[in-house]
Amino acid sequence: KQISVVGVPMDLGQIRRGVDMGPSAMRYAGLIEELKGLGFKVKDYGDLKINRFSSGTIREQNLKNLHEIIKTSEELCRELDEILSEGGFPLVLGGDHSIGIGSIAGISKHYKELGVIWYDAHVDLNTAETSPSGNIHGMSLAINLGLGHPLLTEIGGYAPKVKPENIVIIGARSIDEGERELISKKGIKIFTMHEIDRKGMTQVMEETIQYLSSRTDGVHLSLDLDAIDPVDAPGVGTPVLGGVTYRESHLAMEMLAEAAVITSAEFVEVNPILDNKNKTAIIATELIASLLGKKLI
Ligand code: ARG
Ligand code: MN
Ligand code: MN
Ligand code: MN
Repeated sequence: KQISVVGVPMDLGQIRRGVDMGPSAMRYAGLIEELKGLGFKVKDYGDLKINRFSSGTIREQNLKNLHEIIKTSEELCRELDEILSEGGFPLVLGGDHSIGIGSIAGISKHYKELGVIWYDAHVDLNTAETSPSGNIHGMSLAINLGLGHPLLTEIGGYAPKVKPENIVIIGARSIDEGERELISKKGIKIFTMHEIDRKGMTQVMEETIQYLSSRTDGVHLSLDLDAIDPVDAPGVGTPVLGGVTYRESHLAMEMLAEAAVITSAEFVEVNPILDNKNKTAIIATELIASLLGKKLI
């Protein structure tokens, strides 16, 4: 298997600077060497160019930096389309979670029933109408469902990218009112921290794998590092107390590796400026290794 790495130094989907350094932080933590050490052929596509000073002309209410996010999403979409056509396994390094728009736009073309695991403290199901912040990183899952501004939902020339019944959200503990309504209206499968505490991560992952393997032909893992408790992963822009532990997250990745269900992945929201000695990028790197099959014995 060839792992095709793309960095997306995007920080315009939210308001805290520094998350644009996420790809560098993960590379600095030794990601590429780690992947090669696991025996993979690695093709590093480098980082996309983001124009953080663009004088973009597309502007809409409550959609911050819309112009530049559209531009980057289209580029990322093309890049991932190409990677999958070449048979590579796409591994996307963020950047804030608005990159989930372009990545899934490029990936979903290649599957009839794409599944998505959204491993996140948040659910990112806002639209411009419901968002308390106007930050597009809190809207990316809704956009993949075809809900939101058409310039975003139509990235790649088609919508929707994912069906609600092909999504599983894991780790949520911060959900806005409009998002809560959408989850019940669309019947989206969700394991909040409550279910993780009650059932344990083993059962949560068994149910997730069983649910997705029965209905999808590929599964994209979108892992927001803020799913993990801020004690373990402090380098994120929107930390929320009471998260998934480091150990539980490793277990989740190991179970996904064992079940061999994941066909692409992205690791987002690593912000080394807010971090403590690059801890969060190191965890991301370790989780990626577990996801790709690294074992202790
Ligand atoms: N729900 C909040 C919002 O819409 C926070 C979203 C945080 N999203 C993230 N990808 N970290 O602004
Ligand atoms: Mn997120
Ligand atoms: Mn499709
Ligand atoms: Mn989040």
